[in-house]
Amino acid sequence: MVHPNMQADYPGIEPAVRDFVSSGVRKMLIGGQWVPAASGKTFTTVDPASEGALAEVAEGDKEDVDRAVRAAREAFEHGPWRLMTASERGRAIWKLADLIEAHTEEFAQLETLDNGKPITISRAVDVPLVVDHFRYYAGWATKIEGETIPVSTPGQYVLNYTLREPIGVVGQIIPWNFPLLMAAWKLGAALACGNTVVLKPAEQTPLTALRLGALFDEAGFPPGVVNIVTGFGETAGAAIAAHPDIDKVAFTGSTEVGHEIMRAAAGNLKRVSLELGGKSPNIVFADADLEAAAVGAATAIYFNHGQCCAAGSRLFVEEKAYDTVVPRLIEFSEKIKLGPGMDPSTEMGPLVSSTQFERVTGYLAAGKDAGAKAATGGGRPAGLDRGYFVAPTVFTDVHADMKIVREEIFGPVVCAVPFKNPEDVAKAGNDSEYGLAAAVWTRDIGKAHRMASILRAGTVWINTYNQFDAASPFGGYKKSGFGREMGKAALEMYTQVKSVWVNLGGHETNGG
Ligand code: NAI
Ligand code: MG
Repeated sequence: MVHPNMQADYPGIEPAVRDFVSSGVRKMLIGGQWVPAASGKTFTTVDPASEGALAEVAEGDKEDVDRAVRAAREAFEHGPWRLMTASERGRAIWKLADLIEAHTEEFAQLETLDNGKPITISRAVDVPLVVDHFRYYAGWATKIEGETIPVSTPGQYVLNYTLREPIGVVGQIIPWNFPLLMAAWKLGAALACGNTVVLKPAEQTPLTALRLGALFDEAGFPPGVVNIVTGFGETAGAAIAAHPDIDKVAFTGSTEVGHEIMRAAAGNLKRVSLELGGKSPNIVFADADLEAAAVGAATAIYFNHGQCCAAGSRLFVEEKAYDTVVPRLIEFSEKIKLGPGMDPSTEMGPLVSSTQFERVTGYLAAGKDAGAKAATGGGRPAGLDRGYFVAPTVFTDVHADMKIVREEIFGPVVCAVPFKNPEDVAKAGNDSEYGLAAAVWTRDIGKAHRMASILRAGTVWINTYNQFDAASPFGGYKKSGFGREMGKAALEMYTQVKSVWVNLGGHETNGG
């Protein structure tokens, strides 16, 4: 049940934010115009801390995706975008970053209201990472280069070189855990490479992407370069994945939907990149700084309330250190202050939606039924009766075949498992269909690097967790997906290589 609009109760809401969420229907951005859904339908987003209605948003579907793709195609083939220099493209992306930075508080508040995360985090982490991300890719626009290839053609002067060209119209479907940051991860590289985009934010959290949409014109992007269609996955998202005139689809979300995206993309053989789920092992050896490792284990699972694809949800602790690390983790867990994200003293907010609350509490019940022990947490925290709050939870007495150990929970729930030696833990750590991230805590540098080599994951952290930077590639092994976001690696997902051959004429001479 959705309660009446509650967001006005939070002190300190910026007037621009209040206006954004409460003044009529938030429209979609198509071809530089703000438009309602062709069907006229709308949907309500919910403030997960109060379960109150937050904003009314246009519900786009196939017809709106069609319109957006036409606008993106027009902008790609015939608009001024193709003729803009790389330097101009880079400057537009940089200007976008400046504009976001100038509106930091507004973006942070919208993100917190829509997603539930603490305002201190939206302000200090989400928005600054977004600004950094766009600045990083602004720099790349002028550095996307081909190569000259030393071909072995006998008796002829031949020049062979490559061009790195944009792919075309790109469809991007993003999740709700870092709504604005995921938009930035997707848009930064795509725009630096000269593509045009149809972006679909998650239905739970469309607001910051729409607010971002209002900045493209001022930043200098021609109309149609970025189009934003809000709506549900099964309709608007599916229409993007299947669209015959979209050249590439980039998706972040569940592994289940990842399968569907690939199947739908087969229709026109569009390029696909997938950033999917995880069940990342966080491995603590007894020779580590155990205090740092215990606190690290807490932040590994609790950051963003466990709603991180890279969350350290399987904690392996060497037997000798288990009774030091796990009690410390539990102590840390019990001190975390839960509350509405808009309260500046809140350290952990609610989960994003009633669906996620049901899903995560379903896993808590499944864990207990299977015989695991919730050493702390295990349900809704006392004193928070409204809002999708789940207490930080540490499961002990778990087995490798339990659902809570095998499946992505996407909540503040960690399974603690003792281990005997590096061989055993390497095997256990890799015993997952996922391979997004892993971490190792040890003072033995050789062991650290050996483990980094053995673990089948796209990212390995050593004596740290949850480090991200626009310059460092991120993506999955195994069912965590493929393709790399961020860094130079992301440019490969948004460009294609053309090989150009030139007969230079003349005949062979040694120049002497
Ligand atoms: P989801 O994968 O259904 O949604 C992610 C995005 O995909 C949203 O924009 C959604 O509208 C869209 N989508 C959904 N179905 C689609 C379809 N058939 N075709 C095209 N687009 C579609 O994820 P959901 O249901 O919100 O969360 C379920 C679970 O997925 C979570 O509990 C978590 O385990 C995982 N997840 C993983 C994320 C990650 O960062 N890797 C992010 C979000 C969820
Ligand atoms: Mg879903």
